[in-house]
Formats: sequence, structure tokens, C-alpha cells
Amino acid sequence: MRNTNIIMTKHFIHSAIIFMTLMLCPTLGWAEGIKLLHGPYLDMVQENNATIVWVADKPSVGWVEMAPDDGTDFYSVARPKFHDTNIGIKRTSLIHSVKLTNLKPGTRYRYRVYAQEVLSHKGAKVRYGDVVATDVYNKKPLCFQTNDRRQTETSFLVLNDIHERNDVLEKLLKNSSYKDKDMIFYAGDMISHFTHDTTVFKGFMDTSIKLFAQQKSWYFVRGNHETRGEWANRFQEYFCTQQPHLYFTVRQGPILFICLDTGEDKADTDIEYAGITDYDNYRTEQARWLKEVVASNEFKEAKYRVVIAHMPPADTQDAWHGQREVTNKLLPPLNKAGINLMICGHMHEHQYIEPNDSHDYPILVNSNNSSVTAQTKNGQLDVKVLDLNGKTTFHKTYSER
Ligand SMILES: [Fe+2]
Repeated sequence: MRNTNIIMTKHFIHSAIIFMTLMLCPTLGWAEGIKLLHGPYLDMVQENNATIVWVADKPSVGWVEMAPDDGTDFYSVARPKFHDTNIGIKRTSLIHSVKLTNLKPGTRYRYRVYAQEVLSHKGAKVRYGDVVATDVYNKKPLCFQTNDRRQTETSFLVLNDIHERNDVLEKLLKNSSYKDKDMIFYAGDMISHFTHDTTVFKGFMDTSIKLFAQQKSWYFVRGNHETRGEWANRFQEYFCTQQPHLYFTVRQGPILFICLDTGEDKADTDIEYAGITDYDNYRTEQARWLKEVVASNEFKEAKYRVVIAHMPPADTQDAWHGQREVTNKLLPPLNKAGINLMICGHMHEHQYIEPNDSHDYPILVNSNNSSVTAQTKNGQLDVKVLDLNGKTTFHKTYSER
């Protein structure tokens, strides 16, 4: 009888577990359903707007909930939603991008991203599946701060030519106190060939997201290696997603950053590009934009003007076509405009080019194993190059213009 009771009790417990499991199925389904694969990450933070990008593992619609950083619980009220749309239609996509507009300069905002699976879309009938969102319950909500030209001083960090070496990327960031910098710039060639939807994430973005890209202003200046491969024409699905161009300006504190896209290093006719590139015309078009930038009030009122570009100029006998184009097309609008410093990469070695006939400002070429850190203080831009171990290998200051 006692044994029968034990068996019945065991049977009851077993049934209860099955019952509870069935009851919890929707929850388990939620957990096993759509997932966020990468991100979210900040794409382009400016003074009045910021773009957020994230990737889900299933075709989905996406949106951002935004809240001021005012000490209230994220759950205290329904937060406004900003949808990933194109021409008024919510995009069904794996990758999502939302530009948050009408933001105030120098202000912190909290955010949460969502993706809801789209199971089918036929005629006027859309069937939706599970929803996934970033965690604001067990973790502090993600937060970013908009740039602000009224901020008295600022600091930044430049890295380049990482070529998918995540260990080097992490070491350089940590040994150059990336957490203390207002902004981080990647000056190109972070990957070697853009061949797949995972290339940028495996190459450097998953590391960047883990360390800073969800919450700190950072900017990607394209290198020539990001122009290569069958996925290269999809660059703007990942970076500068809501921008008209991959060349742009960014204002923070007393500095105006002019970020250029120097394109490929060989001529468009080279066998390596299989006739698929048109960078000569692209650089001509960019030079026209650059003239407008130099003539703008934004340019004139900035105390410092820093140019960031992947390929440095060169016009010596051994210079390649791309660098000659930089010399002939992109330098003239900048010459005599009052540039403090141009920072480049591409050469995989440190170079410092003093002002000369083609440019009246110095050019600092950062190697592939060092970082450039800079901060403004009392009318001076203090610039250092740090090696992999954080040792200063170059140090110079530049006065306000
Ligand atoms: Fe390069």
C-alpha cells in the first residue's frame, strides 16, 4: 500500500510537471523564438539626432522605445515608439535601423529595441510571430548622450587597419582608456573583404558592441578594404545607415570633424575591381561637397578642424592612384581653410607629414598597431600615439585656429 502511494505521488508530480510545462509553452516559445543576433549599436550620434541599428535572426519589423534619462523607471510609463520604416511602410528585415530625431544637444537618452517576427505577408494580411526586446528589467537600459558644441572641451580616439584582429582591437582600446573618451573613430580597413552578412560582426563589431558601441558616440570612416567583396555595396545597411553619404561632418565641443571616404587605392580600371567601381567620379563628387563644408558657418565657427580619412595623400613616383586622387581632389578644398590636423591610416606604419605645398596642415598616419588619442584643453589640442601596450610613442600639441 505504501509503495502504491509512493508510485501515485510520483505519477502526480510527473503529471504536474507536464501540465506546468504545457502551461508555460508560450513563454518557452518566446524564449526560443526570435532572437537579437547583433547589437543594438549606435550608428551616427549627432547633436540633434542619433541612429540605432540591430540585427534579428528572423525577418521582422523593428522599433525603438526611447526614454529620457530622468531617474524614472523605464516601465513607469509607456515609452514612445520609433519604427524602422521606409516610405511609410514598416520594413520587414533582419537588420533594423531607426533615426531618432529632434533630440536635444548634450542630453542623455535611454533606449530599448524590439523586433517582431513577420511570419507571412499576403495582400492585406500580415501574420506576426514572437517579439524580442533588449532587457530593461535585469539590466540598466542602454543609454547614449548626444553631442554638444557648447561643451567646452572634448576628447577622442582613432583606430584603423585592424583587419579583423579582434584581440588587437580590444588591447588597443583598453590600453588607450577608451572609456574616458567622448568619441571613437574607426578610420577604415577594420575588415579585409566584405563577403557576408556576418563579416563586420565577426571582424570587429561584436567586440565593439561588447565594449562601447551601444552607448558611446563612435563613427566609421570607410577604408579601401571595406569597398571589396560581394557584400561591399551593402555597407550602408550597417553603417551611416540614414546618411546621404559615407563622408560626413561631426561636431563635438570645440572640434568639427570632417570625415572623408577616400575609396579604393588602385585605378577603377584595375583587374582587381572587375569593372565594378567608380571611385574617380565618387571622389570628384566628394570634393564638391567638401567645398561646401569649408564654406559653411559650422566650419568657420569651430575652434579646431580635424580631418579623418583612411588613405593619406601621396604624389611621389611610387604613389598609387588612390592616394594621388586624394592629393589632387580632396586636399585642395582643405588647403588654407584652417585645418589643425589630418589623421589617416592605410600605410600600416607611423608617418608624420609636415605641412608642404599641397597641404598647410600636418598629417598624422597611424599604424595598424597603435591608437591616436586626443583631447582639447585650454586652447590646445593634445595628440598622442599609443602603442599596443599603451606606451606613448608620439606627442604633439596644436593651437586653436
Ligand atoms: Fe587601406
